[in-house]
Amino acid sequence: MEQKQICVYPGSFDPMTVGHLDVVKRASGIFDEVHLGVLDNANKQNTFSVEERVDMIQRCTDAAGLGAKCSVWSFTGLTVDFARRQEATAILRGLRATADFEYEWQMALMNRRLAPEIETVLLMTDSRYMYLSSSLVRDLAYHGQDISEFVPAAIVQDLQQRFGQK
Ligand code: PNS
Repeated sequence: MEQKQICVYPGSFDPMTVGHLDVVKRASGIFDEVHLGVLDNANKQNTFSVEERVDMIQRCTDAAGLGAKCSVWSFTGLTVDFARRQEATAILRGLRATADFEYEWQMALMNRRLAPEIETVLLMTDSRYMYLSSSLVRDLAYHGQDISEFVPAAIVQDLQQRFGQK
């Protein structure tokens, strides 16, 4: 029997955006399984706790009909160790503008140095989402703007509640 092709998709996802979800959708057409990994980083102040982010991603992927192919995890430590624990052959990341490229390239090369058996796969974002980031979404929500076109419908309320909108 052929080995299942599993990728891990690590990130902060604070919160998941429609751009992230688009990357997951497209990756689920390439890989047998996509294991999303929310980094549990005690040194970083996040808007949503790691448990909340795992739950929010789960609701987004379920609502998008991706539940059968996707699973959502939290992890501490190195992405390559998370990938090895999940028996993944690839690390998935989305690439927006060229501004992302240097950072992603550095990470991909370092991860390859740490785990040569694991490939990094970068999916170009859909052009509709080139300018989108979790931090911009947080900033808009903080300033009371409507963020419903930027995050999956399943988590719009979570943001509105966190930032005190009705
Ligand atoms: O969504 P983000 O914040 O851009 O994701 C960054 C992430 C989580 C992929 C990166 O910080 C990471 O892999 N952290 C885990 C620690 C690690 O593996 N560091 C070495 C990377 S070369």
